[in-house]
Amino acid sequence: MIENLDVYNFKEHDQEEDSEIISDLKNSEQKKINSKHFYDEKGSKLFDMISELKEYYPTRTEIEIIESQKISFRNKLPSNASIIEFGSGSNKKIKKLLNALNNPKEYISIDISYDFLLDNAKEIAKKYPKINVKAICADLYQLGSISKIVNNNSQKIGFFPGSTIGNFSENDAKKLLLGFKKILGKGNFLIIGVDLRKDRKIMEQAYNDSKGITAKFNKNILNGINNKIGSKFDVNNFEHKAYFNEKKKRIEMHLISRENQNILLKDYDLKIQKGESIHTENSHKYTSEEFEKLAVSSGYKKVDFLTDQKKYFGVFFLKVIGN
Ligand code: AVJ
Repeated sequence: MIENLDVYNFKEHDQEEDSEIISDLKNSEQKKINSKHFYDEKGSKLFDMISELKEYYPTRTEIEIIESQKISFRNKLPSNASIIEFGSGSNKKIKKLLNALNNPKEYISIDISYDFLLDNAKEIAKKYPKINVKAICADLYQLGSISKIVNNNSQKIGFFPGSTIGNFSENDAKKLLLGFKKILGKGNFLIIGVDLRKDRKIMEQAYNDSKGITAKFNKNILNGINNKIGSKFDVNNFEHKAYFNEKKKRIEMHLISRENQNILLKDYDLKIQKGESIHTENSHKYTSEEFEKLAVSSGYKKVDFLTDQKKYFGVFFLKVIGN
């Protein structure tokens, strides 16, 4: 028992999610898997390894921005606030944020991977005994359940780092920003990390690292699907592919089938042709102007924009206006 830690689990195995996985794989235009399924225990660890790779600049750059501009965090964001992190992952960034802010009193950590979430939340609760920690196991499509746990009386700062927003289409990103707004309420803040569009080579290398960790991460999504729905995908029958789609302004990750295969999905026999792809991730890259426009059209005002010297990554401070 840790005094200052409460745990909530909204991620019990549900039938609906299974049918969604199967219908996405059956999609006749393009087979796909929602990128939230990357983050089982092993996937979360693989992503942590990615974040340390020399080619993968986003994590390192975002941390550098928080670390070097902590004064802005302290001066432009409220004291005694409740911090709500959407999709927590590892503790590296939240520690920097909690240290930068003035007397944060609550930390609500939301993540999809239960054990990973719990380990990380415990570490924060022990390290910051004055902060009340709430760990919520949920995905970002469950904002309704999450909002019930958020206290309405405190000043709130949402924290959505890592350019996770890039994993959503512009339409869905807008929906998500509207959902956050409901949880945060008028006058409260959202700190959001956005990967900025840059030289294509640099972006593509970040998703095609020389150690092959991203390839492992991409293939591991199939292990997660096997565990969830009892399918028998063999990761060795697929190749990793990642490239920048110029027209859609996003990195796309795919798994390319090395041969003709049949995979049993519960009672459906899925045919995959040699060379056919399963689309596993989009990672949209914005200019700062484009992202500001998206935020404004979702009912936020830009309070500040922080970036690094090379302008690789942006951290926006947004304020909720209207309802
Ligand atoms: C941190 C989830 C946004 O899109 O860059 C890393 C995930 N995928 N390498 C990203 C990821 C491949 C990452 N997100």
